[in-house]
Amino acid sequence: MKIVIIGTGYVGLVSAVCFSELGHDVCGVDIDEEKVKKLQQGISPIYEPELEELLKRNLEAGRVTFTTNLEEALPDAQVVFSAVPTPPNKDFSADLKAVFIVAESVAKYTEGDIVFVNKSTVPVGTGTKCEEAITKTLKERGVDFKIPVVSNPEFLREGHAIPDTMQPDRIVVGINENGWARKVMEELYVPLTRVSKPIVWMSRESSEIVKYASNGFLANKISFANMLSELCEATGGNIRDVTKGMGMDDRIGPRFLHSGIGYGGSCFPKDVKALIALSRETGVDLPLIQATHDINQHQRKRYFQKLLDALPKNATVGLWGLSFKPRTDDMREAPSLDLIPLLLDAGHTVQAHDPVAMENAKSIITDGVDWKDSAMAAAENADAVILLTEWDEFRGIDLSRLKLTMKGNDLFDGRNIYDPAEAKEAGLTYHGIGIS
Ligand SMILES: NC(=O)c1ccc[n+]([C@@H]2O[C@H](COP(=O)([O-])OP(=O)(O)OC[C@H]3O[C@@H](n4cnc5c(N)ncnc54)[C@H](O)[C@@H]3O)[C@@H](O)[C@H]2O)c1
Repeated sequence: MKIVIIGTGYVGLVSAVCFSELGHDVCGVDIDEEKVKKLQQGISPIYEPELEELLKRNLEAGRVTFTTNLEEALPDAQVVFSAVPTPPNKDFSADLKAVFIVAESVAKYTEGDIVFVNKSTVPVGTGTKCEEAITKTLKERGVDFKIPVVSNPEFLREGHAIPDTMQPDRIVVGINENGWARKVMEELYVPLTRVSKPIVWMSRESSEIVKYASNGFLANKISFANMLSELCEATGGNIRDVTKGMGMDDRIGPRFLHSGIGYGGSCFPKDVKALIALSRETGVDLPLIQATHDINQHQRKRYFQKLLDALPKNATVGLWGLSFKPRTDDMREAPSLDLIPLLLDAGHTVQAHDPVAMENAKSIITDGVDWKDSAMAAAENADAVILLTEWDEFRGIDLSRLKLTMKGNDLFDGRNIYDPAEAKEAGLTYHGIGIS
């Protein structure tokens, strides 16, 4: 089947190479000329394990191509995916400009029937608005092609995006008609349904809600653990023991039940904000969602304040991890972007290291940071070291060697990955989260 995917970012590019790996004929379209040039040469513009290998293989096999020209990409395609960004506006609502531009462009250029699939995360009702924009454009053209709008939200995790796409827990498809579009979606996903990956069919509105509900729930689990971390600190508890004790109950489960400096990234913060905006817009109270957001802000703030309070004047801080989580170079809403300005404004020196996100970080923080090519180099003569991203290479650090490398003693473990007793034995003053 011929597929067009508009937007070749973390979601669109992974979808494009995975659909081509599954045997479809895929064309990725993006407005970013530099990105498209790189992709045509088999170079991935983002870091994602296994991605570049799959990209090269499918380019060579001729199953995937990339262009900036949507008009050229559309002929013969049966499905067009929109995987464009939906970032938060200042008032927390999702910015849907790119989604509507794409929907209108498809209606403007298609020369036949085509299923329009929203893979971007969009608030409930967006599919209907896309359908209205498409109908209007088709009417202006004086053509009556069928362009049904389907919701097919994406659940991949950056850092695990390829296995998540090739072996999804479920494929959610929201569709408000039972005819041709449904058959096209069934055919599209046959390579996965054949190996027992289930499609969960529902209305388009339910599907749009599932995506926000899933992210809201996971973010809530993190904020729940973070809320308890403060209680642990005040009462002599240890959040690691508390969440372990809770998580072994299979009704609760251990995943996402970890305390740290809070969630970041391109999805949880923006999707929680979009739910808050949706609550305002619809008049439906979503108090758990507001609390999830507030706790996340509070957690980050209070931990960073602890670090600032512990530092001497004009201190040197070793900062480990820049991306919002391990196995990605994505810097969107990364804690490092909040902390670095706080440290620099207070007159401190920042020595930072990240295994893959350093180039992206340099393009955002253009001044004031001393970029280092290893964790130990970042710790050299530091008064304090703070771990912000739990990359594997930081887990195995020799804490005695760290102590010898540093000038001071303070180890701030923003992800609770080290053993406090081991840190103490190494001569370090350990500052975890929720560990009294
Ligand atoms: N990143 C994730 O982990 C993830 C997971 C699930 C869902 N999502 C959702 O998927 C959507 C895309 O997210 P992303 O992280 O891939 O974004 P991204 O910023 O990495 O990629 C978006 C791409 O779209 C391109 N683009 C923007 N406007 C365009 C237009 N008019 N025509 C063609 N291309 C255009 C950009 O140049 C960019 O390459 C968002 O709604 C996001 O919430 C993201």
